[in-house]
Amino acid sequence: MSTSLPSPGSLSNRQVRLASRPVGTPTRDNWHFTDEAVAEPAAGGVVVQTLYLSLDPAMRGWMNEGKSYIPPVGIGEVMRAGGVGRVLASQQPDFPVGSLVTGSLGVQQYCSVPADQLRRSGLTRIDPRAGSLTQWLNVLGMPGMTAYFGLMDIGQPKAGETVVVSGAAGAVGQTVGQLAKIHGCRVVGIAGGPAKCEWVVKELGFDACIDYKAGPVKDGLKTHCPQGVDIYFDNVGGEILDTVLTRINRKARIIICGAISQYNNTEPVQGPKNYLSLLVNRARMEGMVVFDYADRYPQAVAELAGHLQSGRMSSREDVVSGGVDAFPDTLLKLFTGENFGKLVLKVADEA
Ligand SMILES: NC(=O)c1ccc[n+]([C@@H]2O[C@H](COP(=O)([O-])OP(=O)(O)OC[C@H]3O[C@@H](n4cnc5c(N)ncnc54)[C@H](OP(=O)(O)O)[C@@H]3O)[C@@H](O)[C@H]2O)c1
Repeated sequence: MSTSLPSPGSLSNRQVRLASRPVGTPTRDNWHFTDEAVAEPAAGGVVVQTLYLSLDPAMRGWMNEGKSYIPPVGIGEVMRAGGVGRVLASQQPDFPVGSLVTGSLGVQQYCSVPADQLRRSGLTRIDPRAGSLTQWLNVLGMPGMTAYFGLMDIGQPKAGETVVVSGAAGAVGQTVGQLAKIHGCRVVGIAGGPAKCEWVVKELGFDACIDYKAGPVKDGLKTHCPQGVDIYFDNVGGEILDTVLTRINRKARIIICGAISQYNNTEPVQGPKNYLSLLVNRARMEGMVVFDYADRYPQAVAELAGHLQSGRMSSREDVVSGGVDAFPDTLLKLFTGENFGKLVLKVADEA
């Protein structure tokens, strides 16, 4: 017998499915909505009620056909999404009813996870004392893990070095910059618009931030990185990557985390024209995929939670209401820069 809050059988599950593959920016036509009854969990399984969903630039890549670090979402499938939720019904002692979890929940109100999919879904219990539920999708979640391992493992920052991070006011960028400050670096952000630039300097303690929408990034780098750039954490690719390449130091490390400026391109991805700067400077450019570090997430979560609790680090989440129906429009905010902080979609009340 399962123990449960409301009986899953009495609930309808609203879901967002991929209807077609986008060309360029996704449109409403790329999605369709379904409503399904929620079944009681079978032996060893759980049913999770989604509270918040993480909206990520990577979702755009998952909508494409073709080989990547993870298979594409199939046409007709529920859109893949990480989330935080509450266990509503359980046949699994590791996940008692009422416990809070994070994992791949999908863009839907309820996620049924059979016993044999528990590991694959990455379902993990979370401790709400370590951070708010939305912080568990940000600094304590996938973006925070990306920032931590990208900066610490690939960037290997040393006190006194200059670190530049693009997408500075976003989910990954905010944690990269604060961690680099904690490690004694000079930190210069790149972000779009005065409000974001002011926030990363005044609230997060970056040394400077270049508004790439206001003027040439090259001029900003000259002003704010007088000693050159030792580490560039690249979230955006395109022109900005090319410009930073002209300012790197000998033995610089460039972390290729993402290239959001290129994700909706209908033309081939713009490659770095200035890559020979790597040769001249004996520098290194390395890609990273956060999932490769899954075994070490607990170590990073503990360290980042410690920084949050000590006040050395803070975070900003941009929580949008509207439930799963608001997903198609909310996702687009990532590509227009309308999100300010980690973009989160609220699906249900916490209490
Ligand atoms: N490799 C991995 O394992 C991994 C894991 C997580 C994320 N990522 C990557 O990390 C990057 C940041 O992800 P996130 O979740 O932290 O997103 P985010 O920064 O919270 O949101 C995306 C931001 O990108 C900026 N942007 C959009 N279009 C741009 C353009 N054409 N040029 C410059 N900036 C643009 C916007 O900020 P502005 O207002 O400042 O323009 C927007 O707010 C993405 O490229 C993502 O794919 C990689």
